[in-house]
Amino acid sequence: MRFSNAAVVSTILFLSVCAAELECASRTPTASQATLPLHLGPTYPTSSSLATSAEPHTVHTQCEVVPLGWGRDDAPQILKAVELCGNGGTITLPAPYTYTISSRLYMRLTRATLNVHGLLSFTPDLGYWIENSHRVEFQNMSTAWIIEGNDFIVDGGGWQQGGINGNGQAWYGRAAGQSNQYGRPISLSIYNSANVSINNFAFYQPQFWSVWAQDSRNITMTNIYINGINTDPAGNSSNYAINVDGIDTMRVDQMRLENWTFHGGDDCFAPKGNSTNMVLRNFTCIGGGIAFGSVGQYPGHPDFITNISVSDIRVSQKIDTKYGGAAVAAGAYFKSWVGVEMGNPPQGGGGGTGRVSNVTFDNLIVENTTQAVYINKCYFKVPAQGAYCDTSTFEFQNFNFNNISGTVRTPIGVNLNCSQAAPCRELKFSELNLRQSKTDKTAIAVFENAQNVFGLSEGTLMFSH
Ligand SMILES: *[C@@H]1O[C@H](CO)[C@@H](O)[C@H](O)[C@H]1NC(C)=O
Ligand SMILES: *[C@@H]1O[C@H](CO)[C@@H](O)[C@H](O)[C@H]1NC(C)=O
Ligand SMILES: *[C@@H]1O[C@H](CO)[C@@H](O)[C@H](O)[C@H]1NC(C)=O
Ligand SMILES: *[C@@H]1O[C@H](CO)[C@@H](O)[C@H](O)[C@H]1NC(C)=O
Ligand SMILES: *[C@@H]1O[C@H](CO)[C@@H](O)[C@H](O)[C@H]1NC(C)=O
Ligand SMILES: *[C@@H]1O[C@H](CO)[C@@H](O)[C@H](O)[C@H]1NC(C)=O
Ligand SMILES: *[C@@H]1O[C@H](CO)[C@@H](O)[C@H](O)[C@H]1NC(C)=O
Ligand SMILES: *[C@@H]1O[C@H](CO)[C@@H](O)[C@H](O)[C@H]1NC(C)=O
Ligand SMILES: *[C@@H]1O[C@H](CO)[C@@H](O)[C@H](O)[C@H]1NC(C)=O
Ligand SMILES: *[C@@H]1O[C@H](CO)[C@@H](O)[C@H](O)[C@H]1NC(C)=O
Ligand SMILES: *[C@@H]1O[C@H](CO)[C@@H](O)[C@H](O)[C@H]1NC(C)=O
Ligand SMILES: *[C@@H]1O[C@H](CO)[C@@H](O)[C@H](O)[C@H]1NC(C)=O
Repeated sequence: MRFSNAAVVSTILFLSVCAAELECASRTPTASQATLPLHLGPTYPTSSSLATSAEPHTVHTQCEVVPLGWGRDDAPQILKAVELCGNGGTITLPAPYTYTISSRLYMRLTRATLNVHGLLSFTPDLGYWIENSHRVEFQNMSTAWIIEGNDFIVDGGGWQQGGINGNGQAWYGRAAGQSNQYGRPISLSIYNSANVSINNFAFYQPQFWSVWAQDSRNITMTNIYINGINTDPAGNSSNYAINVDGIDTMRVDQMRLENWTFHGGDDCFAPKGNSTNMVLRNFTCIGGGIAFGSVGQYPGHPDFITNISVSDIRVSQKIDTKYGGAAVAAGAYFKSWVGVEMGNPPQGGGGGTGRVSNVTFDNLIVENTTQAVYINKCYFKVPAQGAYCDTSTFEFQNFNFNNISGTVRTPIGVNLNCSQAAPCRELKFSELNLRQSKTDKTAIAVFENAQNVFGLSEGTLMFSH
């Protein structure tokens, strides 16, 4: 029997779990402020301590939430529905509703489905979010929404339909020329989770990075649409949607990303420390490429990234005369901090160690990026670190690049600029066809401290077919 108490919180339960429904509904949940840890320690959950399917089942329930309207905060009633139906049930936010989210979200989902067929509209109340977002210790960041749990599905209902409207323009304007501004929240964070499927989900104007995944395994995200286009004509290439990334990961094992369209102002995908066993397929990335790192920012906590397979990727730099656009360093970009630590993250750091290995790129097309493939051993933000470009001991090895084509806006197609302290090695290339967008000449390859490079010679023009 359909039970409705819309007058109280607009939560409709198709099956009632609460004997005293009104009592259940009258507790309005708010999420307490959480902090996602930088390092795993004995007090932090590890993947082996994740809740397992052995947890007792509760009754399967379905909750449907309709918005309160008139700009009132829907977060409490959505959190209430997750409390009622988030263990073994389904929570549906139907289309075409827009839900006002003016307070932070934290959800725990176990063997549950969250249908976001409408749009969650995160208010541009910058002061609230700067003060009250959840904290992410990595790079002193913040996030507006955390989901934690196992065996759950988040579904947007259709291509370019349900998901998030981050109302990011207010953030883009405030951040002009300033990267990693404190308190600017990541739209969605997946934390301490296993067996996650996110499908047909859209991000309209994400506030900052669209997705952050940390301490999780077995995540699939398919048919993801991200539109972080600046709409302010005052925007230009230096302030355009700064830090609007697609997805960044740390301590994530087994991830599959497929069918993404991203238009942003920074990295499309950026795996950070301990991102392993990942498959990416069919991405269109405008405004940012596939960027490994930055790595080596935190000394004493090495970053290991291995077994990443990337295929069928298009990366473009598009700069609009009216609205600007981000410069794109490369389609395949590997960036490690210098070997000398200065300052504190996010704007400082360095001196960290680790290894990126076993990375394969198949079928990459670039359009007017600075270079197509770029290993950069000299990433830093404190200007004095520029004197230490050859000090990084971070290792890059066992990379395969097959079928890389398109145009670059400099003479350099492949730039292997590796550290003297730890030369890159075992880099294999085949089927390269890169031209300079200005002259239509073939692009060249440049090496520094690169050993055992196959299929490519330093300084030579690459063959075009
Ligand atoms: C993830 O799914 C696998 C396969 O169904 C299952 O064995 C495992 O227990 C699940 N893990 C968790 C944490 O639910
Ligand atoms: C994070 O940034 C805020 C604002 O600048 C600052 O007050 C705080 O000390 C920083 N925290 C860390 C751990 O760096
Ligand atoms: C990964 O999660 C999916 C559900 O999203 C599940 O079907 C699959 O069995 C899991 N795989 C492993 C290796 O746990
Ligand atoms: C771009 O925007 C920044 C910040 O708003 C401003 O300082 C800079 O002068 C602008 N550059 C151009 C070329 O308009
Ligand atoms: C990716 O898109 C193609 C073409 O629309 C579709 O056939 C395929 O099933 C999609 N992949 C996933 C995992 O949804
Ligand atoms: C690739 O993904 C896009 C969505 O980003 C989809 O429209 C297209 O059909 C997919 N193509 C293939 C071949 O999977
Ligand atoms: C590499 O990752 C893929 C995808 O997760 C996985 O199927 C494969 O077993 C991994 N290979 C190794 C050698 O771990
Ligand atoms: C990565 O895993 C290693 C252990 O394999 C650990 O020592 C290191 O601290 C981890 N790095 C991060 C960034 O968590
Ligand atoms: C990395 O590649 C090497 C050979 O190139 C292979 O022996 C090894 O199993 C791979 N490791 C992973 C984790 O994929
Ligand atoms: C090379 O990449 C292009 C563009 O992605 C694709 O159309 C072509 O089929 C690929 N060639 C091979 C041999 O896979
Ligand atoms: C490539 O980008 C440069 C700016 O970096 C721009 O001047 C040029 O017009 C672009 N070329 C094409 C073909 O888009
Ligand atoms: C390589 O890095 C050095 C710094 O060590 C820098 O001076 C040089 O310009 C870089 N070369 C290219 C082609 O990017």
